[in-house]
Amino acid sequence: MSDEIVLAVIGGTGIYSLGDLTDVTTELPVTPYGDPSGAVRIGRLGEGGPRIAFMARHGEGHSVPPHMINYRANLAALQAVGAKRVLALNTVGGITERFGPGVLGCPNDLIDYTWGRISTISEEPGSEVIHVDFGEPYDGALRSAVLTAAGETGVPIVDGGVYGATQGPRLETRAEIARMKRDGCDLVGMTGMPEAAIARELGLEYACLAIVANWAAGAGPVEDEIITMEEIVAVVQSTTANVGKLLHRLVM
Ligand code: HPA
Repeated sequence: MSDEIVLAVIGGTGIYSLGDLTDVTTELPVTPYGDPSGAVRIGRLGEGGPRIAFMARHGEGHSVPPHMINYRANLAALQAVGAKRVLALNTVGGITERFGPGVLGCPNDLIDYTWGRISTISEEPGSEVIHVDFGEPYDGALRSAVLTAAGETGVPIVDGGVYGATQGPRLETRAEIARMKRDGCDLVGMTGMPEAAIARELGLEYACLAIVANWAAGAGPVEDEIITMEEIVAVVQSTTANVGKLLHRLVM
C-alpha cells in the first residue's frame, strides 16, 4: 500500500467531510500564511484504497465566509501534507442552460470578480514577484482524469464552461447575473478565486468539480425565485453519491 497522497479534495458548501475515509489521521500544518480553515483529514478512500487528503474550505461547521477564507493557508496546508493534485469541489449557481440544479460541471476557464482578497503568495514585502501563466486556469490532465472517471462510472458531467467568481457573501442581483452571462460566465460561485491562482503559484495541479445547487438570480425559469441556503445544501447533498463514485474512480 503506497503512502503517497494521490489527491487532495477541498469540500465546499454542503460538503464538510468525505464519508468513506478509513484509517483517518488529522493534521493541522503550520503554514507561512497563517491558519487554514481547519484540519486536514488524511485517510484511505475505501478499505485499503489510496490515500487522499480532505479539507473543508469553510471549516467543518461552515464558519468561514468566502471572503474571509485563508486560501493560501488552505492550499499550503494540503501541500505540506504531501498533496500535489487538488480537486476543488465548488458549490455554484447555474447561469446558462446546461447548468441547472443538480448538474456536475468541470469548468475550463474562469473570470474573477472578487476584490480585496489576498490573491498571491508574493504579498509580503520582500517576497519574490511572480507572474504565473494562467491562460488555462485549471490543470488539463486533472480535468481529463475527472471527465474520464465520470465517463467510466456513468456519472453525468458537463465538460467545460466559465466559472465566474464573485465576492459574496451575499448572492448576486439579477442584473449582475445578466452581466456575467454577457461576459461569458456559465457558473457563479464565491470561492473559485483566488484559490485557483494560488494553487498555480504553489505549483499544485488543480481543477474544479462544480456542483450546481440552484439557478443563479434570474437565470432559471422562475424569474423571481428566492434562493435559500437550505435549498443549496439539499441539492448538493443529493449529488453526494455521484460525487463519491467519481472520486473513487479518479483515485483508483
Ligand atoms: N451565487 C454565488 N454562489 C453560489 C450560488 C449563487 O447563486 N449558489 C451556490 N453558490
